[in-house]
Amino acid sequence: MQSEKTYDFYFAQVQKALESCTDNLWQKDSKVSEGARYSLMNGGKRVRGVLTLAVCDMLKGDMEGAAFYAAAVEMVHAYSLVHDDLPCMDNDDYRRGKPSCHKAFDETTALLAGDALLTEAFEVLASSGLSDKQNMRAVQILSGGAGARGMIYGQELDLFFEKQQTLTVEELTQVHRHKTGALINAAVQMGAVAAEATARQREVLEEFALRLGFVFQIVDDVLDVISTTDVLGKPVGSDVHNGKITFASLKGIKGCREFAAALTQEAICILEETFGAQAEFLAGYASSLLERTH
Ligand code: IPE
Ligand code: IPE
Ligand code: MG
Ligand code: MG
Ligand code: MG
Repeated sequence: MQSEKTYDFYFAQVQKALESCTDNLWQKDSKVSEGARYSLMNGGKRVRGVLTLAVCDMLKGDMEGAAFYAAAVEMVHAYSLVHDDLPCMDNDDYRRGKPSCHKAFDETTALLAGDALLTEAFEVLASSGLSDKQNMRAVQILSGGAGARGMIYGQELDLFFEKQQTLTVEELTQVHRHKTGALINAAVQMGAVAAEATARQREVLEEFALRLGFVFQIVDDVLDVISTTDVLGKPVGSDVHNGKITFASLKGIKGCREFAAALTQEAICILEETFGAQAEFLAGYASSLLERTH
């Protein structure tokens, strides 16, 4: 299928960018650098990097420059996973089918490896070869999406609510919007920057991305209940074990599936209304993320 080939192409571009632009970032004889590389290159679906490239391609932007943005967002994402698995957060020992960074190395190394991935992501981004104005905008987008008003706030809320006995759908929606939606939107918006999208196009893409991110986390919550550790490559049952209320516990599996399917349909309609046939890959990709099994 054409869309599978396109996906393979984007995926390969993200991998290539990660390999080439991160090669010179690591300090020799450093456990922290080893831990950072281990966590970045040990698999991962590369959803965020693929989204950056797919948006840029849809808008006929500069794919070579966008590959640096794709690598940068995947580095930030990898850092977030390293820290998310730490004992002070979700305390998960397994990630991407291998021991989590703090298990393969130790907690101090994992903390610093996460810091290194986050910091170096901005060097990669700044090396894109796109205009200074574009890079400046990408810095604002990535730091905004990942920072104290974005993903970090989502992680803060996620841990805060772990201690609560009850949680409303509205509260959980805020958690998901920040901890997952914000970085997925940043990935999409950086693709738009690489293609010099108009303000209107960026607005539409944000509406699409926030729905996509929301669905992505709902599906993650469901898979934590119904999948297996082998398939997922990370521990199942982690949310229940940590006392987290998730969409799976609030709405049930069937309720989640219906809700996520409706949101995906909405996201696709929003995209197609503005971008028409050009949105074909992203529409198909949104559907595949709804159906994903890992
Ligand atoms: C896991 O993200 C964390 C969430 C936000 C749900 P992914 O499912 O994209 O993880 P990788 O990168 O494929 O390992
Ligand atoms: C993590 O959400 C979101 C991040 C910002 C890392 P989860 O804690 O549900 O992600 P997994 O299930 O460990 O991948
Ligand atoms: Mg978590
Ligand atoms: Mg987790
Ligand atoms: Mg999860």
